[in-house]
Amino acid sequence: MKLLVTGGAGFIGSNFVRYMVNKYPEYNIVNLDLLTYAGNLENLKDIENAANYKFVRGDIADREFINGLFQEEKFDYVLNFAAESHVDRSITDPGIFVQTNIQGTLALLDAAKTFGVTKYLQVSTDEVYGTLGETGYFTEDTPLAANSPYSASKAGADLLVRAYHETFGLPVNITRCSNNYGPYHFPEKLIPLMIINALHDKELPIYGDGLNIRDWLHVEDHCQAIDLVLHKGRNGEVYNVGGNNERTNIEIVKTILKHLNKPESLMKFVKDRPGHDRRYAIDATKLRTELGWSPKYNFDTGIEQTINWYLNNREWWENIISGEYQDYVKSQYGGRLGVE
Ligand code: NAD
Ligand code: TYD
Repeated sequence: MKLLVTGGAGFIGSNFVRYMVNKYPEYNIVNLDLLTYAGNLENLKDIENAANYKFVRGDIADREFINGLFQEEKFDYVLNFAAESHVDRSITDPGIFVQTNIQGTLALLDAAKTFGVTKYLQVSTDEVYGTLGETGYFTEDTPLAANSPYSASKAGADLLVRAYHETFGLPVNITRCSNNYGPYHFPEKLIPLMIINALHDKELPIYGDGLNIRDWLHVEDHCQAIDLVLHKGRNGEVYNVGGNNERTNIEIVKTILKHLNKPESLMKFVKDRPGHDRRYAIDATKLRTELGWSPKYNFDTGIEQTINWYLNNREWWENIISGEYQDYVKSQYGGRLGVE
């Protein structure tokens, strides 16, 4: 079996590549990543020389390159993790989100169709469903109602994936997960940003009233879910993946401060994010009952493990913060590095 994993140098993609390289020594895994500001080959240092792993640098939206790669490698499975993924960046620069998340997905779908892959799996997000009030859960039948340029680009991509199944019979699945946390999370997102700021005794910026709710999913539980959907998912189906761990942002920040023994006075309430979704909560019944998935982590052990990972891997995030890693990428690869 030959797998193409796109975006495998990012947070979730790198955790997934490691999981698959170790679990399936008989599979060949090609990691295609543009190495934008969010892609980091240091995430895969421990498996970079594995016999069943190969890295290729490239842009999923570059059709000529993508078609050449598909022709050469003859992939069985394609898993698309590559994306611009940060909501705040999508508010200041939506164009690159359309380019990578929609045009990139379209280029991959066309190649998957032309070269006849066995399965195309699109890694999507619960944010395509929009926002919830105090009650209720997103199911796979919840209408799409994206509110940010990021989630709109992901919803657009999901509809293209659906259309390629309905129109051309492409064997596809879409997974829609809640907020992931765990090792190698890029330090612009809530949990790593707050850990690193707290370690530096810097203010922790909390948007609005801090009562927005996210449903936190450990990245390893997400990887296991994708593995199940890849091998057992019914073609054309969407599967929600959620941790059943709803927390307000304030609760998250207070938990981090408590673990690090830092004062709550570091919390600073700042201007709210425009269009800020209030609450996400996933109903993952379909994945549990149909494919037998169950998460291994509870939030208390998962967040403790994650905080300890950041404490024990300072060099990893210090290189990112100082810009040293991007300097290295430029010297090795040159070319476009994505939004800075
Ligand atoms: P990330 O930003 O950490 O990583 C994205 C990766 O994609 C990076 O390695 C980047 O270099 C690569 N990339 C960007 N543009 C590319 C292009 N044009 N061609 C090739 N590679 C490109 O993101 P993540 O948090 O790991 O998210 C992975 C996927 O999961 C995304 O599709 C995202 O929408 C989805 N998702 C993430 C979360 C979350 O909590 N992080 C939640 C739901 C869904
Ligand atoms: P984020 O990690 O950006 O993920 P998403 O927007 O995809 O859910 O943000 C998680 C929550 O934390 C979200 O409600 C916005 C909030 N947030 C802050 O309050 N301060 C911050 O500095 C960041 C990055 C996020």
